[in-house]
Amino acid sequence: MNSVSVNKTPTITLDGNNIECAQGKSVLENIESAGVEMAYNCREGFCGVCRTKLVSGQVEYTLDPLAFIDDDEILSCCTKPITDIEVKVIY
Ligand code: FES
Repeated sequence: MNSVSVNKTPTITLDGNNIECAQGKSVLENIESAGVEMAYNCREGFCGVCRTKLVSGQVEYTLDPLAFIDDDEILSCCTKPITDIEVKVIY
């Protein structure tokens, strides 16, 4: 029988450190809660300052982003992890 963890909250891996995600918080907010300073400006998907490389895993957008990003990047201010993710800060 396979064990499935249904209610597990996703983990963000950043620079080898694991950050347990709080429900309802963005990737940016979760990383900030762990005491890591991230670059940001608008926090609404416009400026692109919070661009972050998504190394693995999946996120969902909480609003329609307008900033330009590459295919392997996310806007950390307006995404939430839906699986465990690994990210790399660009700035
Ligand atoms: S802080 Fe501006 S797009 Fe994320």
